[in-house]
Amino acid sequence: MRAIWERSGTPLRARGVLAALALVAIAAAGEAQDTPAAKASKVMFEKTCSACHTSESVASARRTRDQWQDVIEEMVSQQGAKIADEEYSPILEYLVSVYGKVNVNTAQADEIAQIIGLSPKEAEAIVKFRKDNGKFADFEALGKVPGVDPKKLEKSRDAISY
Ligand code: HEC
Repeated sequence: MRAIWERSGTPLRARGVLAALALVAIAAAGEAQDTPAAKASKVMFEKTCSACHTSESVASARRTRDQWQDVIEEMVSQQGAKIADEEYSPILEYLVSVYGKVNVNTAQADEIAQIIGLSPKEAEAIVKFRKDNGKFADFEALGKVPGVDPKKLEKSRDAISY
């Protein structure tokens, strides 16, 4: 899974910075597909990932961050997709934000915030509640966390696993 980073010319640290920038740009808007950076990521995704199939078919299943990394790597190594170094992170972050999946029983707060579209504070509340009370059994259990907007949870319901 790491191979794509190593094969590429861009050092891992530079990739990390790009990923962080893209993440901040997307997370900053909360729900977030309307900042200029988020729009640019969407354009990159559509341009790069609809060359061989529609972008709708790409989005037919939600995936975790690791699974999206695997998919992108597979597209490059086995299908011959060409992805510019500087476009890799924005595309990955776009996919994770819009078509991501997150396990609320194991994920870190930042990933929960990004995928469910919560504020950092709300995501921290979920992690704290989990530490204090054990794993969430289902959506209903998640809804009992104080300080988390139920409308946001409802909106991302299909992105959440347990
Ligand atoms: C050069 C052509 C090409 C490009 C560019 C490309 N893909 Fe693909 N992709 C394919 C082919 C061919 C398949 C079908 C393979 C198969 O039958 O499983 C596929 C299948 C997929 C699938 C379905 C895989 C599955 O197991 O269900 C996903 C998801 C996907 N691509 C995502 C992407 C994403 C994201 C990008 C942009 C980063 C991208 N693709 C760019 C050729 C491409």
